[in-house]
Order: sequence, then C-alpha cells, then structure tokens
Amino acid sequence: MPIPKAELHLHIEGTLEPELAFALAARNGVELPYADTEELRRAYLFDDLQTFLNLYYGLMAVLRTEADFEELADAYLARAAAQGVRHAEIFFDPQAHMARGVPIGTVIEGLSRALERSEERHGVSTRLIMCFLRDQSAESALETLEAAKPYLDRIIGVGLDSAEVGHPPVKFREVYKAAAALGLRLVAHAGEEGPPAYITEALDVLRVERIDHGLRCMEDQDLVERLVRDRVPLTLCPLSNVRLRAIDVLEEHPLARMLDAGLMCTVNSDDPAYFGGYVEDTFHAVREALGIDHERLRTLARNSFEASFLDRDAADEAL
Ligand code: HPA
Ligand code: ZN
Repeated sequence: MPIPKAELHLHIEGTLEPELAFALAARNGVELPYADTEELRRAYLFDDLQTFLNLYYGLMAVLRTEADFEELADAYLARAAAQGVRHAEIFFDPQAHMARGVPIGTVIEGLSRALERSEERHGVSTRLIMCFLRDQSAESALETLEAAKPYLDRIIGVGLDSAEVGHPPVKFREVYKAAAALGLRLVAHAGEEGPPAYITEALDVLRVERIDHGLRCMEDQDLVERLVRDRVPLTLCPLSNVRLRAIDVLEEHPLARMLDAGLMCTVNSDDPAYFGGYVEDTFHAVREALGIDHERLRTLARNSFEASFLDRDAADEAL
C-alpha cells in the first residue's frame, strides 16, 4: 500500500503519455513529427530544461478541446490515486494554450470537469494553480490574469514556471501583487536551474508561500537557515532533477541532506510522463538511491499535507 500523500508540484501538461498524445493527435487531425509512441519515448532524452520544454510545448499541439483537457486530467488522477495521492494541487500553463488559439476557458472548463468528479471517482481532492510562463513578458502574465478573472472560483493560486535563468522573479512583481489582491495563493519555481538569489527574491518580492524545486538553496547557508526557521515548504522533484541534468545521478540528490538540515521538503513528480515516474515511483526511487527510510518517507508525506492549501482540518484528517 503506498503511503497516502499530497502532490503539490505537478504540471498537468507533463502527464501527457505518448499513447494519449497519439490518440488525441488522431482525434484532432494533428500531425506529430514521430512515427509512433516508441519513437516519441526515445525523444525524451534531455540535456537541460530548455531541451525538455521545447518538446513539451510542441507536444501540447494535440490538446485542443475541453474533452482533451478532461481526459488528460482524469488519466492523471486515476494514476495518482493508485500511487497513494489523496490530494493534488495541479499546475497548468494557460499561455502555452492561448498562443495556439485555445481559449483559457476551454482549458479551465475541461480540467474542471475531471477535477469536479475526482473525489468521487478517484478519492483525490484537487486544487488548480495557474502558472505564468517566465520567458514570456510581464505584460503577457498580466493579460493572462485578466483573462482568468471569470474563472477565479476554480483557481486557488498562481505559480511561475518555464525557462528560469535570465527571468528572475522580480520581473513578475506586479502580477503577483495583483494576484494576491484577488485573494490567490502564491507559489513560484525558483532555484531549479536558477541561482539561490531567485529563491530569496521569490520570497521577498513575490511573497510566495512555497518554493517549487528550491534545490539550489543548498549553496547558501544563510538561505537554508531562513527556510528552516520560517518552515518554507520546498516542492522537490528528484526524478526531474536527474532527467533535466540539474544533478548527474539520483544518488547525488541532496534530499537526505536537506531533510537533515531541517528543511520542510516534499517529494513530487513534476512532469511524470517525461521524467520516468509518478510520485510513489519517486518515493521508491529515493528510498533505493538515498536510503531514505520509511520513517522519513512518512515525514515527507506528512509535510505534503501540511504544505498544501487544504484548510487545517482537512489536512489533519488526511494525515
Ligand atoms: N521547470 C520549469 N518549468 C516547467 C517545468 C520545470 O520543471 N515543468 C514544466 N514546466
Ligand atoms: Zn515544475
């Protein structure tokens, strides 16, 4: 039996398995530049974040209708449930779809159809977090927030993803301020490929409550002490770090050292269709590679509920 856990760092577009990609491509008359699912899987060899993102945005071409987004989310939730996930806070990238002519309403309505039935069907409660693409302009992020206004009852918060280096958090100061004023919760990717200073900036300038990844905090002892003191949750994704070459091999992942340092770590799958595993697979992998024992796996699971946007009673109940 997998340990019950919450998943807090999961891009729904990153759950698009090759089989579903081909099925949607056929349904929507989209030509994919791969002969079959095997050839597509062979393309999943990345050197860095940008190489991955190029494939990831390209493959999104198959997602066109509400039904497509519903099917994508439902497939993830079924897999997540089998991996012990009881609560999922799910990222989506509206700008990547709007740029292809798919309205934000199609994306949100489609995802919502799966999310609304998730507790009943899969026993997984859900929240939706809208991410801004940091390699797009600050104006585009503001326009996206504006476009999302009719759907704010479906969205718990905003995040920041895509190519990190050269796009510091401060670029998005204004849109985060506007999101906070609308009552949205705030998270951001920081310290994945970018420097520790981006983590500090995300906390001080954007005022985020959680840091997605945050791996590179380990290069700055003062920052580690601050994160420990303030119990800032880090949503780590060890398999993603290996596949995107943030670290060479899983055996070198700092997760065990981060737990030793007292950091509020959680373990997540990021883009599981691309990175070789869903969240329980990731728990297994860190147990094997890093010798993280059952007690510490339970700590990671407990942290995931505590760091979630569930209200306290619901989080305590899930534990
Ligand atoms: N980092 C940044 N952007 C992303 C990621 C990631 O790991 N996955 C999907 N978009
Ligand atoms: Zn991510």
